[in-house]
Amino acid sequence: MLLHLSDLHFGTERDVCLEAIRKFCKQYRPEAIVVSGDLTQRARFNQFYACRQFLDSLSIPYLVVPGNHDIPLYHVWNRFFSPFVRYQAFFGRLETTMETEHFYIVGMNSIRRRYHTRGHISLEQIHETYEKLKHAPAHKLKLVVFHQPFYTFPNDHGDKDCPVLGKMALEQWGKTHLFGLLHGHLHKVAVHDLNQIFQLGFEYPICDIHAGTATSNRLRFGFSNSFNVILDNGVIEHYWFDEDKNSFEKH
Ligand SMILES: [Fe+2]
Repeated sequence: MLLHLSDLHFGTERDVCLEAIRKFCKQYRPEAIVVSGDLTQRARFNQFYACRQFLDSLSIPYLVVPGNHDIPLYHVWNRFFSPFVRYQAFFGRLETTMETEHFYIVGMNSIRRRYHTRGHISLEQIHETYEKLKHAPAHKLKLVVFHQPFYTFPNDHGDKDCPVLGKMALEQWGKTHLFGLLHGHLHKVAVHDLNQIFQLGFEYPICDIHAGTATSNRLRFGFSNSFNVILDNGVIEHYWFDEDKNSFEKH
């Protein structure tokens, strides 16, 4: 089982949600945790510190990628000359790969200092990720983690943030039998089939898996806090925070 958290936004975190995630991890022991960006609210030192402390306290291997909130917004000098210095002080490399018993996961950095919210992917990143996926063990579920979604419904807030080269990336990665992409950013839960949407012509779906915010009080669209679980057989489950029970419940 893989636990997919997103948009933790430390600085606006809810302690009840942190506690409920701890409880969930103790009970189900996921083999790994993925956090698809926006670890902090304003890329502050103490926010990264709190996030790192929390993830370490779960005692489960985890992979994180940066989100647009993880580089400074108001401190212009830092934004342009050392945007990732705090992120890297706490989480090291911007792009890492993780292999577990059932999953092969590639983390990608979609954040550029010149864009406020849009996700960016380069030709080089497309190629490097393709090479990794191509050589991954065939029996494992292959996932790519990228903060912004590759697709949203046309009228959704956020469709402008999808990466311009998303379709081109999928045409490559799809050849490796990619299972899906893990995103956050919109604080909205959804699963789309990118193979159908982009008419890629593969004989299997490629899931665009959107996670809501697991811990932040910055809730949108009337959604409560939530996270996703991907089971070893590829079933995707959504868990929602129940304010009465103070725990995440599967719906
Ligand atoms: Fe974001």
